[in-house]
Amino acid sequence: MSLLITNIGELFTNGARHLTRDAAVVLDGERIAWVGAATEAPDADERIDAGGAAVLPGFVDSHAHLMFAGDRAPEFAARMAGEPYTGGGIRTTVGATRSASDQELRDNASRLVREALRQGTTTIEIKSGYGLNVTDEARSLRIASEFTSETTFLGAHVVPAEYQGRADEYVGLICGPMLAAAAPYAKWVDVFVERGAFDEDQARNILECGKAMGLGLRLHGNQLGPGPGVQLAVEMDAASVDHCTHLSDADVDALASVTVACMCHEGWSRTVATLLPGAEFSTRSPYPDARRLLDAGVSVALATDCNPGSSYTSSMAFCIALAVREMRMTPAEAVRAATAGGAQSLRRDDIGVIQVGARADLLILDAPSHLHLAYRPGVPLIRTVISGGRVAF
Ligand code: NIG
Ligand code: FE
Repeated sequence: MSLLITNIGELFTNGARHLTRDAAVVLDGERIAWVGAATEAPDADERIDAGGAAVLPGFVDSHAHLMFAGDRAPEFAARMAGEPYTGGGIRTTVGATRSASDQELRDNASRLVREALRQGTTTIEIKSGYGLNVTDEARSLRIASEFTSETTFLGAHVVPAEYQGRADEYVGLICGPMLAAAAPYAKWVDVFVERGAFDEDQARNILECGKAMGLGLRLHGNQLGPGPGVQLAVEMDAASVDHCTHLSDADVDALASVTVACMCHEGWSRTVATLLPGAEFSTRSPYPDARRLLDAGVSVALATDCNPGSSYTSSMAFCIALAVREMRMTPAEAVRAATAGGAQSLRRDDIGVIQVGARADLLILDAPSHLHLAYRPGVPLIRTVISGGRVAF
């Protein structure tokens, strides 16, 4: 089935042809088949008149922790009353997740995936990380893989209570039986590199083990304080290092140098800096300095970090608004980071762009331009969501 979307007021392609009036796109099955001026558009089986609205690629949420049970609303309330965020609440969610049935975990993830899709997220990465034993990490990923191909093994989220004081033994469990059980359902391996979670040597060890099992590398780094995460990610050619809130000049230089190398030599390593402003919002912390990264030439992505502790939002539009208002990204930079940036952090070139051959994942806004996503925060501006060529909402 082919579908013509015509009368597009602004076509935000992330490609060579950003069209600012009277554009059209033709979708054929799951792919984009044609992009250009509405007057030259070929015919199609069906047609949508965008009525002068903006059309953009579906959002790519490259960082979400959807495999959990329960919530931590009281912890949020305590934070808003002045308590700091330490990550200690992760263990509360681990308890709830271990006690949940498969169906409860599936229903919760399904609810959130649908909530995100309704708000324009057509690709979502889903992490494990609230099981922290062989059985519960493996089943988290098995269920996650029912929803997305972008699944991430985060057995190295924190050391669970039963391994307290025996962190190296827990790393041994991760690298042995846990990875063996989880890897068949995972595309990526991730480590929370932070004081109180995993140190540099432990992280390097876990990432090496994951790599040996064929997984791509991602990292949580420099969220709560300065640390080795960013430079380790670059050293190991991780696809992404996420949070990037507390960065030294050397961290920024390391990220910028891979971007430059990547532009000069096709196929060179490139580690994206993924910023998660929902976490700073919800933990009342200073936002990452996106301007500093962008001005240094670093590739930046925006994602939600959706999880019941530090950032319980599934809204990419909210993250775009925060990035513009609080992190001094331009609206165009923010939209790009939420689409093409996320795609790059997942090392995908078939999503996050509107060009011939890409996946037919598109959004029609209830607004004439992408500017409105940040200009009208909190307003549901995603009128139509097209996923794989089909109208999902
Ligand atoms: O990315 N930083 C570590 N993990 C999550 C928070 C998890 C939680 O608090 O439950 C994050 O912010
Ligand atoms: Fe996270």
